[in-house]
Amino acid sequence: MIVEKRFGHLDFVQEAVLILNELREVVFGNRAAADRFGEYNRGRNIVQLTRNPQFIELINSALVSRKVMQQTIVFGEPANGPFDVRVSPFQDETLGEYFLLISLRDINEVLLAQEMRSDFVANVSHELRSPLSSISGFIETLKGPAKEDAKARGRFLDLMEQEANRMVRLIADLLSLSKVQASGRSVPHARVDITALAKQVQEALEHQATEQGKSIDLIVSESIEEISGNPDELMQVFRNLLENAIKYSAPNTAVTIGLSKRQRAVGIAGPAVEIRVTDRGDGIAPQHLPRLTERFYRVDSHRSRSQGGTGLGLAIVKHIILHHRGRLKIESEVGKGSTFTVFLPI
Ligand SMILES: Nc1ncnc2c1ncn2[C@@H]1O[C@H](COP(=O)(O)OP(=O)(O)OP(=O)(O)O)[C@@H](O)[C@H]1O
Ligand SMILES: [Mg+2]
Repeated sequence: MIVEKRFGHLDFVQEAVLILNELREVVFGNRAAADRFGEYNRGRNIVQLTRNPQFIELINSALVSRKVMQQTIVFGEPANGPFDVRVSPFQDETLGEYFLLISLRDINEVLLAQEMRSDFVANVSHELRSPLSSISGFIETLKGPAKEDAKARGRFLDLMEQEANRMVRLIADLLSLSKVQASGRSVPHARVDITALAKQVQEALEHQATEQGKSIDLIVSESIEEISGNPDELMQVFRNLLENAIKYSAPNTAVTIGLSKRQRAVGIAGPAVEIRVTDRGDGIAPQHLPRLTERFYRVDSHRSRSQGGTGLGLAIVKHIILHHRGRLKIESEVGKGSTFTVFLPI
């Protein structure tokens, strides 16, 4: 009982904590430890809890050296890990005994985040390398075989321009992604008129749509009060969703933006604005839907690339919506079209 009283507050610690006596018997385990290693009887020897040789070795050497020992250890089921394990010997004055405090910090999430970062770097490098190598290829050709060929020169310069523009777009998208991610947890607080914003984007993209024989219809069913937000970021949401709708819809169809209010929406406290961008295009097969907002994820990378896409548009959209404490819903049917719905708290 006295041990429980002495160490009971460790239940509030997020990391798993075990306390052993000098005989390596468990005198205390907090809640997190019980969740990881199962409930156990006090007084059992540590080897009855786990037989992990690295772990036992670490405990033994802390016991012998009376020094803090630390190591990364992966346990089997159900505890898993990897854990950053720290064994700290200490003399407890109140109880007049010598103990080992073992803390186990699950670093799986940290490692996953690191993995995601290096995947991202690999993706960026790949995306930048392909336009760069075609530009280098054209330079070679223009310096060598096509040196005196005026017709080829014109064509190659056009292609080089396209590739250079592609790199510029990629860098611009990367910068806006990192800007949104860096903007932190605070909700942006400028007053934004969503209806005016939608009209502005509609006008800006009208030309692009008509060029492809498409139109943009804006349907505003009621007047919507201003919301708290960042107008530049919200403009990017409209732009990206609308550009996709235009890009991936069938010729001679209309893309619609619908604006309305909702008294409640899933995951949002209080009323919300609903922004629906609908196209009548190829649609997206269900297995792709959950991954669509991942950076560089494309259903058809060849098609996306050939239309100048970077695969970052929806990742940017997702982060901006998160920043505004909103929600994104994607519905699509192959052969019919897609609807991207954004809910933003009013
Ligand atoms: N309205 C849509 N209809 C069908 N497929 C879509 C639609 N919107 C997005 N997609 C699919 O989702 C993928 C990711 O979209 P995202 O906007 O992130 O990238 P992108 O359009 O390829 O490039 P960009 O970064 O230039 O926008 C697209 O490559 C496309 O396959
Ligand atoms: Mg896009």
